[in-house]
Amino acid sequence: MSDFVRNTWYPLAWTREIGPALNKRRVLGDDLVVYRKSDGSVAALEDTCPHRLAPLSLGKLKGDLLECGYHGLTFDCSGHCVRVPGQKITVARPVVRSYPVAERMGLCWIWMGEPGLADPALIFDLPQYHDRENWSVAEGDALQIGTHYLELADNLCDPAHVSFVHLSTLGNAASEDVPVQYDKLPGKLVTWRWIVDAPAIPLFQKFGNFSGHVDRWHYYHYYAPSIAVIDFGSVPTGTGGPEGRRDNGIQIYACHFITPVDENTCIDHWLHVKNFQADEATNLALSEQFRIAFNEDKLILEAIHANAKRIADKDGKDARRNRMKLAIDASPATMRRMVRQMIEAERIQGAAERMPA
Ligand SMILES: [Fe+2]
Repeated sequence: MSDFVRNTWYPLAWTREIGPALNKRRVLGDDLVVYRKSDGSVAALEDTCPHRLAPLSLGKLKGDLLECGYHGLTFDCSGHCVRVPGQKITVARPVVRSYPVAERMGLCWIWMGEPGLADPALIFDLPQYHDRENWSVAEGDALQIGTHYLELADNLCDPAHVSFVHLSTLGNAASEDVPVQYDKLPGKLVTWRWIVDAPAIPLFQKFGNFSGHVDRWHYYHYYAPSIAVIDFGSVPTGTGGPEGRRDNGIQIYACHFITPVDENTCIDHWLHVKNFQADEATNLALSEQFRIAFNEDKLILEAIHANAKRIADKDGKDARRNRMKLAIDASPATMRRMVRQMIEAERIQGAAERMPA
């Protein structure tokens, strides 16, 4: 069974990456050709000509129309064939699948499921992203990781790894033995902990101007199936942070918008939103710290994925099944159950729709 939810919005690309030229993308294992139309909106079509299966991304844009590079069949953005060179042919229905696309938070989002359910109001939004008086935003990268997207989602429901993987940036030893808590809410999972009266992490020593110990929080907000927003920050110890006062310190939302490319690859579109204004140089320096940290995740996640595949190839079984289970795994396990339930609900809905009336 596929591990993909289809009826949801996925990040497709940064808005800045899509112009009036043909872009090739892959989402949920489907190859797509993507381009920006003359009215500014984005078209996404299956990247296959229905004639000889040539990738349409090897073709040409003729205005808003897409001409196949093999025999010149031409399609509009809804997938209708509007020209067959040398032959008069009219097909009433679309012959190339097209996908709804919308833009928000600097990203193009694509709906890979039933088009009639694609409501742009359902796209994730972070209010602080739009409040530029009190918050500032820096876009990061599209980090390709050679693993299944749920392995990355595991990592993003797991603050415990930070104490060991990110010691030069986001973590320090003070949090090693602090238990992780989690709360399951409708469609959402929050994994969190407070590290009270401890030295600031390296990132906040660089950017936070703390002179003494701090109270530090992690709230990992996971929105099924593929979005995680990490709210983390620190305030001087004893100034009321755990009771709710966060404005006298540094607070950052590190947003991870994950594109499941296929079973073995995902892309983490990351950006950060912070409660202070910064010049270009500071933003670049801060992004570089995140880049270091997220590449540390990439390194370990790709090694885990390769290990799991090697064990599966050797023993013919899922290497995840017999591993040790720890208290810190409760949140990632809940995340996996949430995604399985979404996939099962789609399967049942699809089966019901295929039943004869
Ligand atoms: Fe990490």
